Amino acid sequence: MSGRAAKKVRIGVLASGRGSNLQAIIDAIEAGKLDASIVLVLSNKKDAVALERARKHGLADVFLDPKPFAGQPDSREAYDRAVLDVLRKHDVELVLLAGYMKIVTPVLVKAYEHRMMNIHPSLLPSFPGLDVQKKALEHGVKLSGCTVHFVTDGVDEGPIIIQAAVPILEGDTAETLAARILVEEHKIYPKAVQLYAEGRLNVSGRVVRINSAS
Ligand code: GRF
Repeated sequence: MSGRAAKKVRIGVLASGRGSNLQAIIDAIEAGKLDASIVLVLSNKKDAVALERARKHGLADVFLDPKPFAGQPDSREAYDRAVLDVLRKHDVELVLLAGYMKIVTPVLVKAYEHRMMNIHPSLLPSFPGLDVQKKALEHGVKLSGCTVHFVTDGVDEGPIIIQAAVPILEGDTAETLAARILVEEHKIYPKAVQLYAEGRLNVSGRVVRINSAS
């Protein structure tokens, strides 16, 4: 993946909720800071604010209802096959998970190996999973933060691309900490995308090396 010239990367964003990270990517693109365009925003939630944001910015939005897949024995894989169809139809090169509240299966992971990123509100490998700001406070850590990583089969386990540290302050609650972490999320996710667009992410095993700008 290294050594590629900067080009417009076709991004597909998968989101389930308020979509503030999606917005950060949209804003960076509109400000001319990313060699990328969002060609699809897909959600498993019909009323996701992320879909509204997409429509507001004239981006293709798709709600893919998980319900019709629920009865099947391999329902999660079947759903991901449908997601993959939509991604391919839109010729998506890079998938960004942005508050996507579904565990992706190997169907998607294999198809987008080293081309699917996630943002997580902790300094991985500490505190994978959910409610992580609360867990960080309960654990008494002094530093928290956020991580952009490539997606692999294990939840929140893939090769780390960028992290930002956020100190825990006296009197922090899960909410105040989450809000400060989110500010950093909105900085590092666009940065990770731009590094990808510049072909500077070199994955070797679980380590991502960032090549210097040419
Ligand atoms: C963020 O905290 C992100 O790290 C996590 O889910 C949250 C999504 O927020 N994966 P938003 O929908 O991007 O506002």
